[in-house]
Amino acid sequence: MIKISINNQAVEVKAGKSILQVAKKAGLSIPTICHLPGLESRSVCRICSVEVEGHNKLLPACSTVVEENMQIQTHSTKTVNARKVLMEFIIAEHGGLETLNTQVRDYASQLGVNNARFYLHDQKLKDCNRYSSDYIQLAQEKCIHCDRCIRACRDSHIINRSHRGSASLLTFGEDDSLLDDTACSSCGDCVAVCPTGAIYSDR
Ligand code: SF4
Ligand code: SF4
Ligand code: FES
Repeated sequence: MIKISINNQAVEVKAGKSILQVAKKAGLSIPTICHLPGLESRSVCRICSVEVEGHNKLLPACSTVVEENMQIQTHSTKTVNARKVLMEFIIAEHGGLETLNTQVRDYASQLGVNNARFYLHDQKLKDCNRYSSDYIQLAQEKCIHCDRCIRACRDSHIINRSHRGSASLLTFGEDDSLLDDTACSSCGDCVAVCPTGAIYSDR
């Protein structure tokens, strides 16, 4: 066990736990979007960022492991303001609040974010949506690159990511196949875990 402080409360926690796990155990709710319980965190969305004494930058709670004497603030003004701005970027980049799934909209509502002050929607991404199958639809422009769908799919070759950074795209199969031409079983696991509705099914 190690001693830490979370929101000025001293607690003893098991070594090796993430800040997110420790906060949850302490009854604190930290928003998450890209994190998928049970799988390694990729720390893409940063919505879970928290303040840790001694660090100038906020740290992602989902992937930062607690250390002895760590002083953590999960809901300081700095963290809440950072989450608000991140949420605005997510809304702006992915086509508006109404396009995001219920969980993300709930987080936005809790943060008091009802819309974005700017618009970053990329029509080019819409033009890349050529990979849908009869069952699965893809709205590339809503993707936040969290890779939850890739990690949820039991066949690691079906959903892939090509290019990096803002040029990043989801592709299907090993050579940009149509999803229908892959081993996809239409299980729907990727749809179930997508936080933004970028992978979805009308059926
Ligand atoms: S429907 Fe199932 S098998 Fe097909 S891509 Fe999604 S998770 Fe993979
Ligand atoms: S399609 Fe959804 S689950 Fe997959 S990487 Fe994009 S946002 Fe994440
Ligand atoms: S939930 Fe932690 S970085 Fe996305």
